[in-house]
Amino acid sequence: MTTHEEPADSVLETIGRTPLVRLQDGPADVPIYAKLETFNPGASIKDRIGRYMLERMLERGDVPPGGTIIEPTAGNTGIGLAIAAEQLGLESIFVVPERFSVEKQQLMAALGAEVINTPTDDGMDGAIARAHELAAELDDAAVPQQFSNPLNTEAHYETTAPEIFEALDGRVGAVVAGCGTAGTLMGIARYALEQNPETHIVAVEPEGSVYGELLGEDRAEDEYKTEGIGTHDTATNELFEPELVDAVDAVSDRDAHAELKRLAREEGHLVASSAGAASVASKRVAERIDDGDLEVPHETVVTVFPDSSERYLSKGIYRSFEEWTS
Ligand SMILES: Cc1ncc(COP(=O)(O)O)c(C=O)c1O
Repeated sequence: MTTHEEPADSVLETIGRTPLVRLQDGPADVPIYAKLETFNPGASIKDRIGRYMLERMLERGDVPPGGTIIEPTAGNTGIGLAIAAEQLGLESIFVVPERFSVEKQQLMAALGAEVINTPTDDGMDGAIARAHELAAELDDAAVPQQFSNPLNTEAHYETTAPEIFEALDGRVGAVVAGCGTAGTLMGIARYALEQNPETHIVAVEPEGSVYGELLGEDRAEDEYKTEGIGTHDTATNELFEPELVDAVDAVSDRDAHAELKRLAREEGHLVASSAGAASVASKRVAERIDDGDLEVPHETVVTVFPDSSERYLSKGIYRSFEEWTS
């Protein structure tokens, strides 16, 4: 999002500087602020890493000018990378497990990318392996690899976090965000803990995900509908730094779904399931601060709404819980 005061030369300049909006639900004395990443041109937080990673990779010669990027993605990163690749003169190929939303796949293709599907049963690991295979077949190809690329975390340390602290004049007590690659939370957490080591950091995952095991918590692995966050295999998630995190909160699909519908109906936020989960976990943290059960440097909670519900309409995201498909 840019200011309307001066014209931008490229869509890339419209990435970031997204609004931070107070949520209307939760304890009156502990405000919860949500960063609305749907205001990015690709309508998700992944536009930030798309631009940041490709600009750094070109600078460093990790990909040659006019080269090809190949990435395993659930979709949002593909959209963010496709927007940046086209503007930076790169070709893009995305490897997507079949189960992920058709809207995302259609948008990647509309942005000029080639989309290759892998079997749902092979999971994200299957897509990661296929992406590397394809890259090995091409001379000028590179895999940005969001799951292990420190540039992912860096993008949020350099952009998302400073924007939040600027908007709140540094008055951030707790940071609560969903973890897919964990780049968002690790980038914001690293910045926040530099400002104040007492800042409370909470990672959010769906029930059935096993991120909590990285903090020594028991987890019962299971399928979940919530999209974009969680993991079935922590070996995939190299960016997650347990030492930066105070707790991992697991939110049920049912609670996340009810909350995303409430956010639309009561607050006008058209956001998806990972935002619903983040909002539920944020209210739990705000309640604990309000009850005096949790000491924080400032009585405020910040969270992130990563993407829009519009790309899940074909999955029945606003229908009943039973009709909502993963
Ligand atoms: C919808 C959605 N929410 C949340 C996330 C998590 O962001 P991160 O990968 O930075 O942890 C993602 C990541 O793909 C996503 O697509």
